[in-house]
Amino acid sequence: MEPAWLWLLGAGILASVYCQPFPAHGDKSVGVSQTHSGQFSESAPAYHKVTPAITDFALRLYKQLAAETPGNILFSPVSISTTLALLSLGARADTSTQILEGLGFNLTETPQADIHRGFQSLIHTLDLPSPKLELKVGNSLFLDKQLKPRQQFLDNIRELYGAFAFSANFTDSATTGRRINEYVRKQTYGQVADCLQEFTEDTLMVLLNFIFFK
Ligand SMILES: *[C@@H]1O[C@H](CO)[C@@H](O)[C@H](O)[C@H]1NC(C)=O
Ligand SMILES: *[C@@H]1O[C@H](CO)[C@@H](O)[C@H](O)[C@H]1NC(C)=O
Repeated sequence: MEPAWLWLLGAGILASVYCQPFPAHGDKSVGVSQTHSGQFSESAPAYHKVTPAITDFALRLYKQLAAETPGNILFSPVSISTTLALLSLGARADTSTQILEGLGFNLTETPQADIHRGFQSLIHTLDLPSPKLELKVGNSLFLDKQLKPRQQFLDNIRELYGAFAFSANFTDSATTGRRINEYVRKQTYGQVADCLQEFTEDTLMVLLNFIFFK
């Protein structure tokens, strides 16, 4: 009875790992709210600075996806906004501003530093152990060898997003594809295999976000 239902829920969400070569719009998801209901009494945690914008982003994106795709739609606004916010750390001023404004942030009201601290707090909160559910969120970046990221960017994404960057050879797309799939398979305890079907020849970066939910 209940276990079957839980399994279906788990399977649905596992199938939703966001794993598309950037900038493909993809997937799929799990809500944010469950894990921290009951915690709202503590004085405004940093993620309160980002959750309203993520909710608005979710609704705007849903509207757009629903117009293009009939039927049920499953996607993860948290995954998409997290990876794009992470990416903004590696962009120059104008691009960085455009990414964050595109996600719906008003940078006058919420300075960039607060946004990144907000995501840091959100990821941390989602990762907190809970007796009722297991939730693991992760971000990674696979960068082509010809891209040389700055150390500051690598330090920031690790500190704020818990993200790791890996160097890959995208000219050898078969090997790199296998490597990425193997990485996701390990991170999701074998539940998500071959999530990345293919990427185009001119791919230089794959932004990866996964959510394991049980
Ligand atoms: C951003 O916030 C400021 C201050 O609240 C406001 O004056 C401005 O109109 C907002 N910008 C946008 C694009 O909503
Ligand atoms: C990347 O892969 C291609 C194709 O296999 C190979 O020719 C090239 O030497 C590799 N580049 C590096 C830097 O390993």
